[in-house]
Amino acid sequence: MDCVNLVFLMLYTFLCQLAFSSSLPHLCPKDQALALLQFKHMFTTNPVASYLCDSSHPRTLLWNKSTDCCSWDGVHCDKMTRQVIELDLRCSQLQGKFHSNSSLFQLFNLKRLDLSRNNFSGSLISPKFGEFSSLTHLDLSCSNFTGIIPSEISHLSKLHVLCIWSLFGGLYDLSLSLGPYNFELLLQNLTQLRELNLHSVNISSTIPSNFSSHLTTLQLSNTHLHGILPERVFHLSHLEFLDLSSNPQLTVRFPTTKWNSSASLMNLYLFDVNFTGRIPESFSHLTSIHELDMGFTNLAGPIPKPLWNLTNIESLYLSGNLLEGSISQFSKFGNLRELLLGYNNFNGQLEFLSFNRSWTQLEYLDVSYNYLTGPIPSNISGLQNLLWLKLSSNHLNGTIPSWIFSLPSLTELDLSNNTFSGKIHEFKSNTLLEVALNQNQLEGPIPKSLLNQQFLQVLLLSHNNISGHISSAICNLKTLFLLDLKSNNLEGTIPQCLGEMSTVRILDLSNNGLSGTINPTFTIENRFNIIKLNGNKLQGKVPSSLINCEKLEFLDLSNNELNDTFPKWLGDLPHLQILKLRSNKFYGPIRTDNLFAQIQVIDLSSNGFSGDLPVNLFQNFQAMKTNGENSGTPKYVADIYSYYYKNSLIVTTKGLDHELPRVLTTQLIIDLSMNRFEGHIPSIIGDLIGLRTLNLSHNVLEGHIPASFQNLSLLESLDLSSNKISGAIPPQLVSLTSLEVLNLSHNHLVGCIPKGKQFDTFENTSYQGNDGLRGLPPSRDCGRDDRVPQETIPVELAQEEEVDSPMISWQAVLMGYGCGLVIGLSVIYIMLSTQYPTWFSRMFVKLENKITTRMKRHKKRY
Ligand SMILES: *[C@@H]1O[C@H](CO)[C@@H](O)[C@H](O)[C@H]1NC(C)=O
Ligand SMILES: *[C@@H]1O[C@H](CO)[C@@H](O)[C@H](O)[C@H]1NC(C)=O
Ligand SMILES: *[C@@H]1O[C@H](CO)[C@@H](O)[C@H](O)[C@H]1NC(C)=O
Ligand SMILES: *[C@@H]1O[C@H](CO)[C@@H](O)[C@H](O)[C@H]1NC(C)=O
Ligand SMILES: *[C@@H]1O[C@H](CO)[C@@H](O)[C@H](O)[C@H]1NC(C)=O
Ligand SMILES: *[C@@H]1O[C@H](CO)[C@@H](O)[C@H](O)[C@H]1NC(C)=O
Ligand SMILES: *[C@@H]1O[C@H](CO)[C@@H](O)[C@H](O)[C@H]1NC(C)=O
Ligand SMILES: *[C@@H]1O[C@H](CO)[C@@H](O)[C@H](O)[C@H]1NC(C)=O
Ligand SMILES: *[C@@H]1O[C@H](CO)[C@@H](O)[C@H](O)[C@H]1NC(C)=O
Ligand SMILES: *[C@@H]1O[C@H](CO)[C@@H](O)[C@H](O)[C@H]1NC(C)=O
Ligand SMILES: *[C@@H]1O[C@H](CO)[C@@H](O)[C@H](O)[C@H]1NC(C)=O
Repeated sequence: MDCVNLVFLMLYTFLCQLAFSSSLPHLCPKDQALALLQFKHMFTTNPVASYLCDSSHPRTLLWNKSTDCCSWDGVHCDKMTRQVIELDLRCSQLQGKFHSNSSLFQLFNLKRLDLSRNNFSGSLISPKFGEFSSLTHLDLSCSNFTGIIPSEISHLSKLHVLCIWSLFGGLYDLSLSLGPYNFELLLQNLTQLRELNLHSVNISSTIPSNFSSHLTTLQLSNTHLHGILPERVFHLSHLEFLDLSSNPQLTVRFPTTKWNSSASLMNLYLFDVNFTGRIPESFSHLTSIHELDMGFTNLAGPIPKPLWNLTNIESLYLSGNLLEGSISQFSKFGNLRELLLGYNNFNGQLEFLSFNRSWTQLEYLDVSYNYLTGPIPSNISGLQNLLWLKLSSNHLNGTIPSWIFSLPSLTELDLSNNTFSGKIHEFKSNTLLEVALNQNQLEGPIPKSLLNQQFLQVLLLSHNNISGHISSAICNLKTLFLLDLKSNNLEGTIPQCLGEMSTVRILDLSNNGLSGTINPTFTIENRFNIIKLNGNKLQGKVPSSLINCEKLEFLDLSNNELNDTFPKWLGDLPHLQILKLRSNKFYGPIRTDNLFAQIQVIDLSSNGFSGDLPVNLFQNFQAMKTNGENSGTPKYVADIYSYYYKNSLIVTTKGLDHELPRVLTTQLIIDLSMNRFEGHIPSIIGDLIGLRTLNLSHNVLEGHIPASFQNLSLLESLDLSSNKISGAIPPQLVSLTSLEVLNLSHNHLVGCIPKGKQFDTFENTSYQGNDGLRGLPPSRDCGRDDRVPQETIPVELAQEEEVDSPMISWQAVLMGYGCGLVIGLSVIYIMLSTQYPTWFSRMFVKLENKITTRMKRHKKRY
């Protein structure tokens, strides 16, 4: 070819391109332009509809008749035929129903169709998708389609890429399912598949072995798979990405031979599958593995040898196993970016971190909940890229070395629950999101640099010896949602501006030496769910601006020196469930018409309240008038951010305090003890049928024990001791079969002690100091007349106990991957349901940790 010809050819090509370029209108077939416009008009655009996208824009907005449809954003036409062959509406903010009569189905020639990350608002996936017979790429992920994926999808025999993964699925249901026909039939025709992603689709079957041999990506996490993984999956010779995580019923066993044939595998995720057998010698052939997740797969003992051959590994997750050995062995992996080893039995010291060459790329290090000892080495120069450093719950000690405070990009620092001592230095960076230094022996003031962080969301410094004042600079933290400074030596007053922080949801300043009045003026924008100021030296009145805390669920002002009348206006807070004013100097009678409709724990004990017991108050306790027993799934009060913050409650029974780690919504308590209440016990208390604990002891109550108490069938603890109560013990109380603690001592009770059921279990101490009571010790007969027919104690009691322990089943939704580019994301999703043994709930707590960990690790990549 000579030069002239070449120039001519180039010119010709240029002209051709010009001829078909967007500047020339109406080259796309009219009917297809019309179909697209009709499609456009079926939807509104709303940025929220594409909230899962890093960036989204309403591509259809500028589609209009006056321009060539082939030039429209997201539309691609065949260069020669001008037919519309590609429609890319990913992240296009579309919202509305997607009907079967959609004009989209007129675009017969489509080869690629991407409708992912919009909001089709619970629409079904139409069987008509099966008519796009030329389709090679179909992506319907994360667009709020629900229901059954129609079997017609299996007609798309040219598909290379099929992505219908979902993220939404409500708490209890996966919103998409594969339906009654089986997985195997779906795959039968799809012989060209390269990529299959059905993350969080309810497949609920075994895994077939008829996968296309071209497969490179197989993403089936959280799909209710069961049975045994066919060995063939490991022999797919092009497979690079395999995720079967969160299928606890799926049994996975590694093949012992032929693994070299799947040496292309780069990402292998087997988190929370039923892994059985060993890691075979042949695993060492998988040298291209970059990411390996075998978290919660019951691996035990030393690290399996074949793992050490995977020298290219960049991300290694082995959390939640029973692995052991020295932590320093991991320095053999020179290319690590992520190392997550939490919840294992690793031991040894961290000195290997100071080897100069090691781990310059390391971004995520989590070795929480192991048995590491000794100090963190101080002479570290590498690790400059560290984003996460998580060493929580080991036996580490010494001071926190200064290099940690100088890490330039640190976002999450968790050194909690060790025995670190010394001061917290000033942080050099401004990148922190979470700082957890709680449960150590740290001292000195809160460093100023912590209060200048522009992204800080979680600050946990509780259970240390931190001293000094709380600077009002703390109010500069504009993104903070959790502030826990509990159990330190903080002094001075509470900064007034705290009440203006509009992002904080949990504020815990309890058990310090804070004094003065409760200064903060709570403004109307605030979002506090939990405020705990108990255990300080606060004086004065309850600030009336608390009425602005509309979302408040838990208020604890106990153990201070507050001198006020009953703040009855708190009853207007619509969500208040727990109110603790114990051990202050509150005084006067309680007269109120305010609602307190949601209240479930009210503790006013050890104050100077007087007058009659507040009948109106009891009347308004709507939440206590239901028997929450049958609601099935345990729920907890103010249970937000439970991964970081245990919303515990101290309850007092038998004069002993004990701490409930979380408060069940069925935990109903009234404690009015140690006041100067007088008069009769109102029988209306018998209407509060959900009540578990009633303590009216140490008052000056008189009159009889109301027989209406027989309705309190869930009552576990009744303390009426040290009053002036007279009359007989109503024999009806024998029906209180849940009663474990009864204290009627030091009153003026007379007559016979009832017998039968629980009453046969109480000791003398329940009754002593009542001169007129007969039948002491209760075992002694008190005459036949008073006898209630004996029945055996129902065994429900044991079961009842179990209801209080968190019985949780769960679904861990872990990784989701977009088509084309791999986009990681994950979500926790916890299903509370039927009964599981307690080991299971312990396991759950670990799992929750792990899931949150992974979720956070990936959320930046949404
Ligand atoms: C999706 O659309 C439905 C119905 O229009 C709406 O109720 C829902 O809030 C939307 N979801 C998002 C995330 O925009
Ligand atoms: C039609 O589309 C063109 C190009 O996309 C745009 O510049 C123009 O503003 C649109 N016209 C209308 C009426 O939307
Ligand atoms: C498509 O069907 C829906 C309901 O089935 C209806 O509301 C809508 O008007 C129909 N659209 C067209 C273009 O026929
Ligand atoms: C999905 O659609 C349903 C029905 O319109 C709606 O209630 C729900 O909020 C949507 N979910 C999301 C995450 O958009
Ligand atoms: C395979 O595809 C053809 C059409 O392409 C269809 O007729 C047949 O039913 C499909 N088989 C399955 C199992 O879906
Ligand atoms: C999944 O599907 C199976 C059978 O189709 C059904 O029994 C199960 O309840 C579904 N599970 C969820 C979480 O939707
Ligand atoms: C896990 O696999 C073992 C076989 O190795 C099997 O006995 C057990 O039933 C499986 N568990 C589940 C939940 O499938
Ligand atoms: C794995 O590593 C060991 C020790 O370094 C070596 O002897 C063995 O040959 C390696 N295996 C493979 C398959 O590379
Ligand atoms: C603190 O760490 C110990 C082990 O050192 C562990 O047993 C305990 O559960 C941890 N406490 C918390 C609250 O995580
Ligand atoms: C740290 O703990 C080790 C035991 O694990 C002990 O020998 C050492 O003295 C401790 N160091 C400090 C500074 O407390
Ligand atoms: C409460 O404050 C009042 C003055 O407002 C004072 O007279 C009274 O003694 C205080 N009560 C207690 C118990 O300190």
